[in-house]
Amino acid sequence: MSTKEATVHGPKSAEEKRLQGHWLLAKMGKRVLRPGGIELTRRVLTEAAPTSTDRIVEFGPGVGQTAEMLLAVQPAQYLGVDVRDVEDNPLLDVLAGHQNATLVNADAQQTGLDDGCASLVVGEAMLTMQSDEDKLATMREAFRILAPGGRYGLHELGFTPDTSDESAAEIQKNLSRTIKVGARPLTMAGWQKLLEEAGFTVRYSTSNEMALLEPKRLIADEGLAGFAKFVFNVARNKPARERVLAMRRTFKANQRYLCAVGFVAVKPE
Ligand SMILES: C[S@@+](CC[C@H](N)C(=O)[O-])C[C@H]1O[C@@H](n2cnc3c(N)ncnc32)[C@H](O)[C@@H]1O
Repeated sequence: MSTKEATVHGPKSAEEKRLQGHWLLAKMGKRVLRPGGIELTRRVLTEAAPTSTDRIVEFGPGVGQTAEMLLAVQPAQYLGVDVRDVEDNPLLDVLAGHQNATLVNADAQQTGLDDGCASLVVGEAMLTMQSDEDKLATMREAFRILAPGGRYGLHELGFTPDTSDESAAEIQKNLSRTIKVGARPLTMAGWQKLLEEAGFTVRYSTSNEMALLEPKRLIADEGLAGFAKFVFNVARNKPARERVLAMRRTFKANQRYLCAVGFVAVKPE
């Protein structure tokens, strides 16, 4: 993703028409920008079990909602690695006040971090937008920076097993057009295969409905006040409203084929 993309809170313009879908949702006040919602994040984090001794690296932390959950355990270190470099990043407010928490402006494929510097890597909704080759390169970087025995928690967009290759190609095209960023989900087996190719052993896998823009999920993810704020912001902004509704229509039209997947993989000792 380009670092030149518009800021979440940039000047009022027709920005809403061209923002990548997740930044549009963030601009409208949404904090959970991943397909399986906070429920899937909780399952992955429960299994990955962060503790105060962990050195955590998060790939693509977005506006910092998972960072907040990770920082709640007071880890020995938290590094967020994101290609996006903007001054008014809400993530910085989340990190403020935590002594060992820093945001590194880098591509997760080449973090510049030391070999074995982390005991836990977490990445959500940041691989789906990459080609399979780039997904693998990012997983290999997670493998490199993890110490032996380290855990890698992922949460991404998936295809259900009954998705044919033709349907997958068509859905990728429709999704990418609507959210204005490449969307290349894989089946559960496809994600697992890449993780294994990167050297990981998959310890846990889980899935959830892809219901990012459904009211029930929005309330679960954002809370009632956050849901009300999001609906209010979208309702009074015509270009944003049109785009959010188009995204929701595309998600609904393909709901039989889409899901969210979560994994915890381990770097062998
Ligand atoms: C869809 S948002 C997800 C944000 C957050 N993880 C969440 O689930 O709510 C994708 C995030 O990944 C970041 N990102 C995308 N490609 C990246 C890359 N190659 N390296 C690091 N960060 C990346 C984006 O800037 C953004 O913060």
